Amino acid sequence: MYHGKIVGTGSFLPDFIVTNDDLAKVVETSDDWIYTRTGIKERRIAKDYGVSDMAAQAAKNALDQSGVKPEEIDLIITATVSSEYSMPSVACMVQGKIGAKNAFAFDLQAACSGFVYGLDVIEQFIKTGKVKKALLIGVEKLSQVLNWEDRSTCVLFGDGAGAVIIEATKEVYGVIDVLNKSIGTDWDVLTSKIKHNDTPYYKQGEDNYLKMDGQQVFQFACKKVPEIFEELLTNNGLETIDVDLFVLHQANSRIIERVAKKMGQPIDKFYMNIEKCGNTSAATIPIALDELNGKGELSGKTVGISGFGAGLTYGAAFIQFQ
Ligand code: ACO
Repeated sequence: MYHGKIVGTGSFLPDFIVTNDDLAKVVETSDDWIYTRTGIKERRIAKDYGVSDMAAQAAKNALDQSGVKPEEIDLIITATVSSEYSMPSVACMVQGKIGAKNAFAFDLQAACSGFVYGLDVIEQFIKTGKVKKALLIGVEKLSQVLNWEDRSTCVLFGDGAGAVIIEATKEVYGVIDVLNKSIGTDWDVLTSKIKHNDTPYYKQGEDNYLKMDGQQVFQFACKKVPEIFEELLTNNGLETIDVDLFVLHQANSRIIERVAKKMGQPIDKFYMNIEKCGNTSAATIPIALDELNGKGELSGKTVGISGFGAGLTYGAAFIQFQ
């Protein structure tokens, strides 16, 4: 049976950098408060780019790196929560921009777990033989859904995109397994309401910014990420020692440190780039994978990835790189 293998990675970060000191001029905060609580020093803000521009650029970079041609792509999935459009999908806009004329394309919304959810969906299409080559993108322009007067949220996020090309293979290399879960009873822990128009018959609420109960998110992530890794390890007859590298959703360095401790793993097995990028939601994992790939640090490694976020949603996967 076929399974997916990542044959190319790409990313795009807007060039406009906003440091913690820059933010301290906008809201009452400090570099010390932000850095000690989150591990973030700076983030990119997409002043001059829309969501589909960033996604298309990350996709082009991944195609170039893989040598796969746009017209060879059968499926495009874009994971995002911050598109300017509720329709069309970002994936369709990307399909047009990169010339992937043979692909069917749609968006997937699982917040910061979107990349891992997307990987799961692509795996199913690949296993049935319907898809041979797929493009999976995580992209966010969270700067446009934040309340820039709310210091408890606006300091946490950044904009950017990451993409991978996934090819059907029968080799041992590739996706070992993916597992995803949702806790819909906690939907209100982390929300961002879509801005809709007033009608002659009813008015819409004004309050459509991202809102979060930070401490509940912290506890949820620290409990559920080790649990889902453990379940996935058991399902696949693996042990933590078999995993060379962990790439977790970059929400907060303290979450990653706590997860490493709970799993009894050294922190240097956990990749972090949150210092430079902030939290780019669905884009954090593919951006990190592309950075690691660029440094040649994925070759020959078994990598555990995990996303967690609004929904609540969470998921994990193990991938063996050639
Ligand atoms: N600068 C300075 N002070 C601040 C800031 C800020 N940017 N934000 C909040 N504060 C103040 C608060 O007003 C409060 O002041 P008070 O004590 O006078 O009332 C104080 O700092 C403590 O506020 P808390 O919200 O309790 O801060 P906490 O220590 O919980 O840290 C944080 C907040 C960093 C968000 C933390 O809850 C956390 O790490 N949560 C994990 C969730 C997370 O990282 N989410 C990211 C996005 S979600 C995702 O990707 C899944």
